[in-house]
Amino acid sequence: MVAPRNLLELARQHGTPLLVIDHNVLRANYRRFKEHLPRIQAYYAVKANSDAEVIKTLFDEGASFDVASYNEFMLVYEHIKRLDPPTKDHYIWDKIIFANTIKDRDTLRKIRRYKPLVTYDNEDEIRKIKDCCDTAGLVLRLKVPDIGSIVELSSKFGADPADACGLVARAFDHDLVVEGLSFHVGSQCTNTGNYVEAIEIASHVLADCRKKGYALKIIDIGGGFPVPYNADVPRFEKMAQVINAECERLFPSDVDIIAEPGRFIAATSAMLVSEIIGRARRDGKTFYYINDGVYHTFSGVVFDHWVPDFQAFRDGPSQVCAVVGPTCDSFDKITLSAQLPGDLDIGECLLTENIGAYSIASSTHFNGFEGAHILHVNQ
Ligand SMILES: Cc1ncc(COP(=O)(O)O)c(C=O)c1O
Repeated sequence: MVAPRNLLELARQHGTPLLVIDHNVLRANYRRFKEHLPRIQAYYAVKANSDAEVIKTLFDEGASFDVASYNEFMLVYEHIKRLDPPTKDHYIWDKIIFANTIKDRDTLRKIRRYKPLVTYDNEDEIRKIKDCCDTAGLVLRLKVPDIGSIVELSSKFGADPADACGLVARAFDHDLVVEGLSFHVGSQCTNTGNYVEAIEIASHVLADCRKKGYALKIIDIGGGFPVPYNADVPRFEKMAQVINAECERLFPSDVDIIAEPGRFIAATSAMLVSEIIGRARRDGKTFYYINDGVYHTFSGVVFDHWVPDFQAFRDGPSQVCAVVGPTCDSFDKITLSAQLPGDLDIGECLLTENIGAYSIASSTHFNGFEGAHILHVNQ
């Protein structure tokens, strides 16, 4: 991890806002995931941070990939396009999953030649896959509890477990092959009970399907693995212990278990140095205007329900301050409750850690601001 003094030096050299992505941290996170969940194949969820260099580092580490669109698929494909056809086909089959349950026809037609693994959760999708991508292997996504997860997903995705066997049967009726089941307990899941319940639900559906003669072989336990944004977040190692134990207890040894961690791999790999470009006193509170905001690297405040932390690079009597973005829009407020020295000057910098996931991935160019310069270190 780059020390604060060095970060300021980098900001001086490269300008601000500066997003520093530390590839040693990316590698360490991937290895930690593999170490503590040894039975589970890790498909990095590209949506968390789709920067090409991030993907390259994880590709070189041997990661598999969860993609949601043709463009995300092509970011991974870039690394395998020169492999001989059988090796390439095997890579796509074994190491890439289209985990978006709803895919448009055009995308399905484009990926048909790659015989992809794709998720689905309803009958219309089965018909679409049959029409446009009948080479695909299917994974049925189940709706599972996401109580206490910061970003819930079950209101938009997942088949009711009661309908699951029927949806597996429907796919086979269409001469498609269902390879397995998936779920997602919601992102930044701090409630281990969500995984326990979801694994239990998936195991019942699996047993039911197998009893009916459908030989499903994959269980995809999704993402959700939490990042220590604050001290209340449970330790990953403890959650992993529970997940391992439940997987061992409930899934036969011939089941391949996979997961789609995004945030866990990417979040802690990046730090942002932003610069105070303006200052005002409003209703007795100091407002720091910085050169990055919710339309840019702090987009996670809007889309990811994220509460970022700000640190100054020097001490001073701390008070509750607002930190707001540079755009001409009153929505562009990052936080109204940062604890910061009240005497920071225009030109001084702020540090935000753990900003590698759902940040630049959903950043815009709103109001003509370009967003942060990205600096890769320890590549
Ligand atoms: C289908 C799917 N897989 C994986 C992920 C990654 O989840 P996380 O970043 O919580 O690990 C997401 C995120 O929303 C998702 O929608």
